[in-house]
Amino acid sequence: MENFHVFFISILLLFFILPTTSAQLRQNYYSNVCPDVESIVRNAVTQKFQQTFVTAPATLRLFFHDCFVRGCDASVLLASPNSKAEKDSPDDISLAGDGFDTVIKAKAAIDRDARCQNKVSCADILAMATRDVVALAGGPFYEVELGRLDGRISTKRSVGHHLPQPTFNLDQLNAMFASHGLSQTDMIALSGAHTIGFSHCRRIAKRIYYFRRGRSIDPTLDQNYARELRQMCPINVDPRIAINMDPTTPQRFDNAYFINLQRGLGLFTSDQSLFTDVRSRNTVNLFAENNTAFHHAFVDAITKLGRVGVKTGNQGEIRRDCTFVN
Ligand code: HEM
Ligand SMILES: *[C@@H]1O[C@H](CO)[C@@H](O)[C@H](O)[C@H]1NC(C)=O
Repeated sequence: MENFHVFFISILLLFFILPTTSAQLRQNYYSNVCPDVESIVRNAVTQKFQQTFVTAPATLRLFFHDCFVRGCDASVLLASPNSKAEKDSPDDISLAGDGFDTVIKAKAAIDRDARCQNKVSCADILAMATRDVVALAGGPFYEVELGRLDGRISTKRSVGHHLPQPTFNLDQLNAMFASHGLSQTDMIALSGAHTIGFSHCRRIAKRIYYFRRGRSIDPTLDQNYARELRQMCPINVDPRIAINMDPTTPQRFDNAYFINLQRGLGLFTSDQSLFTDVRSRNTVNLFAENNTAFHHAFVDAITKLGRVGVKTGNQGEIRRDCTFVN
């Protein structure tokens, strides 16, 4: 009888706890405390974007890396005095500084409004800035859900195996995205983020020089493109050299990424495998044919991404300085 009660109460509790993990986020979350927050962020981000296009890919990738490690809690922004924060990990060291700078600038703009000062979380600022850079680069505009708190922990070690690698195949990609509640379609749509931005040459050295014994170039790569990549990324290239990930429209957030995959112009194994593997090819073909379908899927997926591991209540805080815990 006792056990039965405990069981029954647990089930009841589950009912109340489970849905709230994402229900806490909502649109217009700051409408009372900081009614102009979205336009303040948009103005700051637009100004930064006009100075450098890198603002867009840098901010978008920053959001992704934040959400996949400890949830969307701005843990990626935290600095560590002894270089042991998330941002110091091998996977995050290549995050472009302009993404961090975008959040810092937007936060400063928010704090200049007395009503808003220290009322908006850094995690939410990053989510709003991400929405804005996607639109500025020619992608869809969407309503962004807000209400995240900032985390207090950021460690190099926690990045560990939480970010996808460019060498991943479809199964590895699906497994990692599924662990955050994202479907294969979400994963494919989000990979479309590689329609803008840069990669360092070392990421593709294996595909163009050392694929396997007796075959230096990956056969799933278009061979002319491989030759061009070898020219841009010669052996012993300066490690700072970065190349466009979308060779056709590198500064437009469009579905060219998917059309490129159909032609063997996917830069990473993880990109190209979305077309090579028959289980994901139909979705790539759909997004390649229909930019609207891609946009819809991207908005769905990035909204789901924004709900990953969100902190509420005493799990987090609203940071006064996005790079330090209060
Ligand atoms: C699907 C698995 C993914 C893998 C394996 C992957 C891997 C990578 C790698 C290796 C780079 C190049 C970094 C460098 O050399 O500097 C990169 C860049 C980038 N990634 Fe991903 N990524 C993935 C998914 C995503 C997602 C989901 C997003 C965002 C929604 C994203 C956004 C970006 C952007 C915008 C860049 C360019 C960054 C810049 O120009 O500063 N990626 N990615
Ligand atoms: C493209 O996708 C949109 C959204 O899913 C859909 O409404 C539209 O009918 C599609 N267009 C074509 C030509 O298939």
